[in-house]
Amino acid sequence: MGIQIDDLSFAPVVLAPMSGVTDLPFRRLVKRLGAGLVVSEMIASQSMIRQTKESLKLSSSTPEEFPMAVQLAGHEPEVMAEAAKLNVDRGAAIIDINFGCPVKKIVNKLAGSAMMREPLLAGRIMAAVVKAVDLPVTMKMRLGWDEDCLNAPELARIAHDCGVRLLTVHGRTRCQLYNGRADWQAVRATVEATDLPVLVNGDIGSLSDIDLALARSGAAGVMIGRGAQGRPWFLRQAIAWMTERRIEPDPSLVEQCAIALEHYEALLEHHGTVMGNRIARKHLAWYATGLAGANEFRRRVNRAEQPGEVRALVKALYDDAVTAAEAGDLTEGLAA
Ligand SMILES: Cc1cc2nc3c(=O)[nH]c(=O)nc-3n(C[C@H](O)[C@H](O)[C@H](O)COP(=O)(O)O)c2cc1C
Repeated sequence: MGIQIDDLSFAPVVLAPMSGVTDLPFRRLVKRLGAGLVVSEMIASQSMIRQTKESLKLSSSTPEEFPMAVQLAGHEPEVMAEAAKLNVDRGAAIIDINFGCPVKKIVNKLAGSAMMREPLLAGRIMAAVVKAVDLPVTMKMRLGWDEDCLNAPELARIAHDCGVRLLTVHGRTRCQLYNGRADWQAVRATVEATDLPVLVNGDIGSLSDIDLALARSGAAGVMIGRGAQGRPWFLRQAIAWMTERRIEPDPSLVEQCAIALEHYEALLEHHGTVMGNRIARKHLAWYATGLAGANEFRRRVNRAEQPGEVRALVKALYDDAVTAAEAGDLTEGLAA
């Protein structure tokens, strides 16, 4: 079980692009812990061709992440093609086109999911990008604009004819934004409309979600976003389950602490101390989910400016969790 595109072969478990989340440190961590493919945050093609500092940073990668996809958004075929070309020698193994972003600021610029209402232009963009680069081109979209326009299958056929190699469908419409539940069954129409491998995406947060999403959609694999927040090891667990029906346990609390700290240090290094510290707050809050004292931890981390203070808070959080788990084991042992 795997996805093969030319000489690229990867497990069918892909980290979703998430602006503000899937930066280089997070992608590298997820990849190291086990993932088929990781995707960059969305990059505006206009900024990419101007090679702004921000777009160069967003598209930077390390060899450890390989294969890594750079995701581009925009509405001008030539600009998208040019932006794609710029990534060929910068470490990208795949160029992904964003036709799924529902955010008003993006949609108003006729990009992201707005392109689902412009299938002809969407086709011109895909054809231009495919022609511009030797790398495989993939595309990510939603079910459609709204309930009355579920045209992902039509976009899939156009993508196929343009030479796109893999599709991801987030099982919501643009108008749903992130409300309701992703409809995995509705992704099946796209799977059946094309021979291209399709990844099902949306609300996959457990091994049973994976089974249901794959069974309902008939997709070749899964793309996981929020399910990996605070759990960068979840994609490895997904791979073990999908390929071997093996339940891979969560890392121990001591290992989780080391992972959270490794992530924190990488964020400081990549973004600098001030920005890195700020960006780390949401990740550390996600890591704390389910641990005793999480609320107090978040409150304190959100105020901490010094890395030394943050490290100490993280260590204390996990030390307390280990102590609580050991006390729980002891109590259970006495009760047995
Ligand atoms: C904070 C955040 C940022 C996102 N940024 C992007 C993006 O840059 N490009 C994109 O195609 N999708 C983006 N998405 C959508 C995700 O890739 C994914 O389709 C969506 O979250 C549903 O999957 P999930 O339930 O597994 O998170 C973003 C989602 C979130 C929550």
